[in-house]
Amino acid sequence: MCGIVGYFGKNKALPILLEGLERLEYRGYDSAGIVVYCGEKMKSLKSVGRVSSLKEKVIKEDLISGKVGIAHTRWATHGKPSEKNAHPHCDCKRKIWVCHNGIIENYKILKKWLIERGHKFRSETDTEVIPHLIEEYFQGNLENALVKALKKIEGTYAIVAISEKDPNKIVAAKNSSPLIIGIGDKEFIVASDASAILSYTKKVVYLNDKEVAVMNADGIKFLDLFKKSLSKKTHILNWDLSSAQKSGYPHFMLKEIFEQPESIANSLRGRLINKEGITKLGGLDNVRKKMANIKRILISSCGTAFYAGLVGEYLIEEKTGIPVEVDLASEFRYRKPIIDKHTAFLIVSQSGETADSLAALKEAKEKGALTLGIVNTVGSTISRETDAGIYNHAGPEISVASTKAFTSQLSIFILLTLFLARQRQMSLIEGKEIINSLKKIPAKVKQILKNISQIKRIAKKYKKFNNFFFMGRKYNYPVALEGALKLKEISYIHAEGYSAGEMKHGPIALIDKNFPSVFIVTENSVYEKVVSNMEEVKARGGPIIAITNIGNKKLDKIADDVIYVPKTIEILEPILNVVPLQLLAYYIGVMRGRDVDKPRNLAKSVTVE
Ligand code: M6R
Repeated sequence: MCGIVGYFGKNKALPILLEGLERLEYRGYDSAGIVVYCGEKMKSLKSVGRVSSLKEKVIKEDLISGKVGIAHTRWATHGKPSEKNAHPHCDCKRKIWVCHNGIIENYKILKKWLIERGHKFRSETDTEVIPHLIEEYFQGNLENALVKALKKIEGTYAIVAISEKDPNKIVAAKNSSPLIIGIGDKEFIVASDASAILSYTKKVVYLNDKEVAVMNADGIKFLDLFKKSLSKKTHILNWDLSSAQKSGYPHFMLKEIFEQPESIANSLRGRLINKEGITKLGGLDNVRKKMANIKRILISSCGTAFYAGLVGEYLIEEKTGIPVEVDLASEFRYRKPIIDKHTAFLIVSQSGETADSLAALKEAKEKGALTLGIVNTVGSTISRETDAGIYNHAGPEISVASTKAFTSQLSIFILLTLFLARQRQMSLIEGKEIINSLKKIPAKVKQILKNISQIKRIAKKYKKFNNFFFMGRKYNYPVALEGALKLKEISYIHAEGYSAGEMKHGPIALIDKNFPSVFIVTENSVYEKVVSNMEEVKARGGPIIAITNIGNKKLDKIADDVIYVPKTIEILEPILNVVPLQLLAYYIGVMRGRDVDKPRNLAKSVTVE
């Protein structure tokens, strides 16, 4: 989704802004733009497509000298991708410039009003009302005009603005879209995402909703929308730059798949107390007593995080006896959810900024639920808005297709389940057994990753097919859904995930020699049933790829290709079984020539509803 970078300081703004845009590329975008204040004048450039095209243009122009500037990568919502619609947008006289993430819901009314007052618009975007509103209210001070403009705006925003009428300052504001301010030595870098800040500073301030920041040579000050000054805490980012770079891998996605032994270990680190068979989750300390009394859990999330939630449902219900429901966050508030004070509402989100998840969280909060988060991005809005939570500590996930965040979310669900179950009826022995098995998971993932040559061979064989089913039962049903999502996202192949038992209720009509099925058929409580479903597909001539346990030779006659994974206890299987599916999707995507890290139409962090 859209990305923002702004710079004010002692150095040339241009290279810092361009590098920032490159670091935000992973979020998904279709055009980019930049404006720099070059002593008395604003110079701006925009281009459709990659940041590299913008860079080529910029090199030919003399934008170099300015030390204040803002830049943006746009993911089209209002108006098609074009230079005209790319940010930054400006006022009538091209003196006030704004980059914006989010959606101005009342922009049509505002635009009509501004046009009636003589403003001339150049784009089809909702954003353009912002510089015109600032122009309308400008009386010599940029932040005062911005505050007045914000009072007129309904919707979500992260905004950075500069003006040649009040130069040598940059102002920023936020409402429901992330914005972080990096604080350097007499310089500030504002961005929608920490990855654009990391190479300059780790000292950051997170803006809260309806807060404004003003940065100039005197330093930084914060205001609310009533111009009351605020004092804000600085935080230190614990991600390093190397984790936001490819480190020799051809794609972030492959790097992140290979990071999983470590990212899972990081999610577990310091949280397992073997001799007591319990987990130590510092982020839940303040709600420990409430957790002992909750009678129902609602989980809400999107995409991959939703599938992690489905695994969580099986786990928590089986091991704790607490009833669990899982909802797509985009649906949650439309079904009048029933919530009381004994309900815990759990959001799962890698980015911690997904607009649908935030909207669901808001609804649950209003209804009085205890709100919890499983979030990867430290300091993100969801992590700050929930009552308590557990960080993934999986490190930054750059590739649009989520991989290490998923296995980390599954690991955290195990920790949470143990936490709840040991507060209730789970025995010490069972707690210890689960912890022992969990500790072995990183090494087992490593073992699967050694098998890439076989997975590559299978990818080559199947890359020509245009339809796929992914099937599993019980804990591996959500894994099938995730396998299908991975394949469709990065290869653009039609892929559907099904519960293997559901196949005979309709989808089996599609099976023929051109419609392969991937079965997750590890040796667990539903193994025989899944094998029967495989037989049904085989009988109809459908090609089969099976994921089963090392040493299980019984499937050789049914499946066309078999990928072996190490054995573990049933509740931990999803963490292992998804890894070959990630690799299969990755290699098919690469072999089909797709841009796997930045698939078309997708964004890393979906900050619109
Ligand atoms: O940041 P979140 O975990 O809240 O994101 C949720 C989904 O947008 C995300 O998982 C999406 O489905 C990914 N592209 C999946 O690979």
